[in-house]
Amino acid sequence: MTRSATIERLPSADDQSTPGEAMAQTHRSRFAQDEYSVETAESVLDLIGETPLLRLNHRLARGIKAPLYAKLEYLNPGGSVKDRIGLRMIEAAEREGKLKKGGTIIEPTSGNTGVGLAMVAALKGYKTIFVMPDKMSPEKVALLKAYGAEVVVAPTNVARESPESYYSVADRLTREISGAFQPNQYFNENNPLSHYETTGPEIWRQTNGRIDVFIAGVGTGGTITGVARYLKERNPEITIVGVDTEGSLYTGKEVKPYKVEGVGEDFIPGTVDLDIIDAWETISDREAFLMCRRMAREEGILVGGSCGLAVAGALRYARKVDEDKVVVVLLPDSGRSYLSKIYNDDWMRDQGFIDRFGDRKVVADLLPTASTLICAEGSETARAVIDRMHQHGISQIPVVASTISEGCAPSLDAIIGVIEERSLLEKVFRRPETLDAQVTTVMDAPLPFVDAAEDMEDLFPLFTDGGNGAIIVREGEPVGIITRSDLLEFVAHQRSSRQQEAAKAAPKANSKGGAQ
Ligand SMILES: Cc1ncc(COP(=O)(O)O)c(C=O)c1O
Repeated sequence: MTRSATIERLPSADDQSTPGEAMAQTHRSRFAQDEYSVETAESVLDLIGETPLLRLNHRLARGIKAPLYAKLEYLNPGGSVKDRIGLRMIEAAEREGKLKKGGTIIEPTSGNTGVGLAMVAALKGYKTIFVMPDKMSPEKVALLKAYGAEVVVAPTNVARESPESYYSVADRLTREISGAFQPNQYFNENNPLSHYETTGPEIWRQTNGRIDVFIAGVGTGGTITGVARYLKERNPEITIVGVDTEGSLYTGKEVKPYKVEGVGEDFIPGTVDLDIIDAWETISDREAFLMCRRMAREEGILVGGSCGLAVAGALRYARKVDEDKVVVVLLPDSGRSYLSKIYNDDWMRDQGFIDRFGDRKVVADLLPTASTLICAEGSETARAVIDRMHQHGISQIPVVASTISEGCAPSLDAIIGVIEERSLLEKVFRRPETLDAQVTTVMDAPLPFVDAAEDMEDLFPLFTDGGNGAIIVREGEPVGIITRSDLLEFVAHQRSSRQQEAAKAAPKANSKGGAQ
């Protein structure tokens, strides 16, 4: 049995057998009994494709009436949908004489196409060099190297035409290295063709021709274009939905950086047929990544960011269709390449995709309900102010120009400085006579103002950049001071209450013993 047999037996549009019958035959032909009567694949390349569908309505898509299925492309041997095009592009280049024995394959890739190509190259004895944008996960670089590839990293935030861009670097290497071949997934017809010949027919067979809506994220557009061409040939009524990322040219007017990998473009590749896409959904990085985390926890499937994007788009679209419509969404790759990003809480927090304190907290959450701002008047002596600070147990006190009555907040304009314990100590230690001078002569510049409604997350830079405190302002009035130790206490309290909640929720360790 050979791989090409799998492709040759796919039914064409004028095939007499029903699509289901012909495809079932193709499905069985992937494995053969060898001379030891063992049913086996002869090469890992025989294991590309024939990925299963998973119904999502029971958990993640509970409440969505239309049956929704995910095509699990991460189960390909190289871990992504791109195994399909790696094989097709290399075999076509061999047939066309563009790739000869001992040749080098060079490709600008966000990783997955590299793995697809590297896997095939490893079996066929070609060298590989991949040029990747620097926003890619370190795991992806390591992965390519594991297959024996050389990886060149180029900057992400430069124009495609720049000589530094990963496209230009790949072009230059292809010109300079003899025997080099660049498959160029962005303009290679074998990219959509591989999906026309394999992914599309598989979906048609797996759904018994019942599919109504096909949904996929769009990068080179090879997947959606190839699958859509096959499906629309079978049934022109099938709706094709592209999912784009915010910041990409497909659905946005303004191209801007985004974090999800593999989808969205800043130019229109030759491999996408935009006319075949009937509708679009646009999904943000945050939605995509939070959906990935839900998929791992609710469905038990660990997938990459473009899968979260595709599923978020699919859920949004599936809510709008009739309940008997069969919807299939394609999941391109595994989450193992994103453990340092999407599945890393610190990275997700730093990017602002998850809140540092579980539920969103605002500055006002730090204030006692009935708080009065204690101030010093500019005319008072430093000694009197030290007594006041001691009496109230505070380490910082704003200084106001005017006379204020007890319990009445000064206006923001009236605040002219601050007395800080540490800085005052230094001054009176050097010149004890300042104790009897007016506070205005020993005060520091006023503390910055922060609004009570501001996110707690935004307070941190203020303190980590050297600040000692800030005045909290509510509806234009100063209502309290927040210090570094208040913030520390708040963080410690948040963490301990979160740990207590987690401990309450966790099952008792070793309650039954036995294997895990
Ligand atoms: C992770 C991932 N998802 C989705 C895609 C998009 O697939 P296509 O390029 O066929 O549009 C890619 C393509 O590079 C990818 O790497």
